[in-house]
Amino acid sequence: MLLVSLLLLAAQTHASYHDLGIPTSSATVDVRVFNVGFNHLTNATHTFATPVVPGHESVVFPMYSFLIEHKAARSGETTRLMFDLGIRKDPENLAPGIGAFYASGLAFVTGEDKDITEQLEDGGIPLSSIDAVIWSRMFWNNAHTDHIGDMSKFPNSTGIVYGPGTNTATFPSDPNSTLLESDFAGHNTTELDYSKSKLVFSGLPAIDYFGDGSFYLLNTPGHLAGHISALARVTPTSFISLGGDTFHHAGQARPQPNLQKAFPCPHHLLEAARTHVSTSFFWSPETKPEAFDLASRPQQMLAISDLPDSFYADPAAAAVSLQKVVNFDADEDVLVLVAHDASVVGSLPFFPKSLNGWKDQGLKQSMVWSFIDPENAAFLFNVSAAA
Ligand SMILES: *[C@@H]1O[C@H](CO)[C@@H](O)[C@H](O)[C@H]1NC(C)=O
Ligand SMILES: *[C@@H]1O[C@H](CO)[C@@H](O)[C@H](O)[C@H]1NC(C)=O
Ligand SMILES: *[C@@H]1O[C@H](CO)[C@@H](O)[C@H](O)[C@H]1NC(C)=O
Ligand SMILES: *[C@@H]1O[C@H](CO)[C@@H](O)[C@H](O)[C@H]1NC(C)=O
Ligand SMILES: *[C@@H]1O[C@H](CO)[C@@H](O)[C@H](O)[C@H]1NC(C)=O
Ligand SMILES: [Zn+2]
Repeated sequence: MLLVSLLLLAAQTHASYHDLGIPTSSATVDVRVFNVGFNHLTNATHTFATPVVPGHESVVFPMYSFLIEHKAARSGETTRLMFDLGIRKDPENLAPGIGAFYASGLAFVTGEDKDITEQLEDGGIPLSSIDAVIWSRMFWNNAHTDHIGDMSKFPNSTGIVYGPGTNTATFPSDPNSTLLESDFAGHNTTELDYSKSKLVFSGLPAIDYFGDGSFYLLNTPGHLAGHISALARVTPTSFISLGGDTFHHAGQARPQPNLQKAFPCPHHLLEAARTHVSTSFFWSPETKPEAFDLASRPQQMLAISDLPDSFYADPAAAAVSLQKVVNFDADEDVLVLVAHDASVVGSLPFFPKSLNGWKDQGLKQSMVWSFIDPENAAFLFNVSAAA
């Protein structure tokens, strides 16, 4: 018994999540993911990432929404949260600034036969059981169009939680706002305050949402003031980082030397990258003309866009937040999922399945390099024949 305890203690002490500053706890939440639909953005790749390889100017983003369930240890009471909602079903009815963009056809949504409220109700999750919706981010000027759904469909009892410094002005009192009064009407709102929290994980200030170590909200500014992400403990020693818009394409986070050590890229993908990645746009120490070498690539494939029309209000701050999140990505105890990672849409177990078993299921090993697979829809590293 003593030996077992000592071994357990040793395993705990060496658990890699401790290196990120995450404390020990046995409290967990259940995490389930929905895809609300696909956002098609014409000529928009350059607004989030560089370089843009000819033929890959437009992007198609899935929009993930997460259901978080927490059971209080003492009372047994269940609390349900949503982290992001995807887009509303009628984007043309967004505030004029952003609605016009969808009305013009430059942006359009497919695969949203049911919005998140309909998917929840069909799945036996009454909207009245959702205590709060957490908005991870803001879109362009000041709304998070592809994250905030349509709050008017939720009962007043569902609160809204957002990050510090979020601009909550609404149209029409602020003519530039992309938020509507109906986005708030009737709902209690909570602006997170990081000044009272002493927790810092990989350089990111954290709030312990339930006070038991099961679910943290991390301050990840840069996309715009108020951008937050989440860290869910799904077993006592494994986690899911809900990255929001910290990055949009997996190539903005990968490869990284530490990730390559923890999760080596499979041989067949290294070989495929050799012939399919354009060496006019991507290079590394062991790369030869027409033969790209991923293993020796010291930095991510793609950078955060700092062009004048970048999605990121503060590209330099966003790049710093991203470097902090990249440490989670390299950790064997953490699965990082961002809101629009198209490379994993075919591999994620969606609702009603739970994501909690990702580590035992080897899900990370099978998903983390999908973005570099030339067969994957998110592959954008070759000069496309169409260009
Ligand atoms: C795509 O966007 C760039 C930068 O905003 C612009 O210069 C270019 O004209 C656009 N191309 C098309 C086909 O709209
Ligand atoms: C909003 O919060 C206030 C103060 O905590 C509370 O009295 C009220 O019932 C809440 N409203 C809703 C709709 O939950
Ligand atoms: C709206 O945007 C315009 C153009 O950027 C700016 O001149 C104006 O001051 C803004 N209005 C408000 C209320 O912020
Ligand atoms: C919900 O809030 C709205 C806006 O404040 C209010 O008009 C409505 O009566 C409320 N609904 C209920 C059922 O309390
Ligand atoms: C490059 O990628 C496009 C899709 O983006 C694909 O249709 C094309 O066959 C690829 N070409 C090469 C040479 O890999
Ligand atoms: Zn987004």
